Amino acid sequence: MILILFGPPGSGKGTQAQYLVDNMNFQHISTGDLLRNEIKQNTDLGNQVKGIMDAGLYVPDDIIIKIVDNIIAKEPEKNYIFDGFPRTLNQALAMEQLLGVRHLKVDLVIDFSVNLEELVQRISGRFSCAVCGTVYHDKFNKPKVAGVCNKCQATSFVRRQDDDETVVKRRIEVYLEETEVVRDYYTQKGALVTINASKNLDDVKSNIKDCLSQVGFTI
Ligand code: AP5
Repeated sequence: MILILFGPPGSGKGTQAQYLVDNMNFQHISTGDLLRNEIKQNTDLGNQVKGIMDAGLYVPDDIIIKIVDNIIAKEPEKNYIFDGFPRTLNQALAMEQLLGVRHLKVDLVIDFSVNLEELVQRISGRFSCAVCGTVYHDKFNKPKVAGVCNKCQATSFVRRQDDDETVVKRRIEVYLEETEVVRDYYTQKGALVTINASKNLDDVKSNIKDCLSQVGFTI
């Protein structure tokens, strides 16, 4: 199963991907997380992309496509959730090709629809566990015990550098300019389902479960 979680920054893709990984046999591929990991480890790739990400711009397609191709090449038989990829038409076409040569295809694209004001509110309150990366929100998604990660009980948390309000607005603009076209591409293929991701976390979860069961996957 190849599932794409599609939507603007802050629409809840990463949060829902975590839930699916915890409850189903999926491997989560977040190109943003992979790039942040390169930056954290101070690799050549990390140094190359840091300025681009801090400015809220897209990393060049060839870099992103190579990362995804390497992952699928190693374990083509896995169930994957892609979060934050593909984000340009070039990436979507490359995805089709790299899956096609392995007799795979995108099974479902879930499109997270959220109004733009809410996105900024969600991103400005986001923080995550410094150890396991579980994502929280100051108001909408707090740890059960204040200051303690639900998943790994760590007590240190971090905020993303590109979650600064000016950069967030830039990221949303870039999304509207470069990524909306990807929605049209998957709509034409009949693979895309839009959900109202402005609802609360549990309602969004349950919508996603319904979408998955319609393509034969149950949680
Ligand atoms: P990336 O890391 O992919 O960021 P993004 O797409 O901007 O998405 P976010 O991680 O900000 O949001 P999300 O939808 O996962 O929301 P979340 O679940 O955290 O990309 C970062 C950068 O990397 C890009 O700008 C680019 O430079 C580069 N990059 C990555 N992929 C690339 C590619 N393919 N091509 C080129 N460049 C690429 O939720 C947000 C907050 O809301 C959280 O606090 C959460 O707790 C809360 N929340 C979630 N759901 C709800 C809800 N239903 N109700 C209330 N609050 C909620």
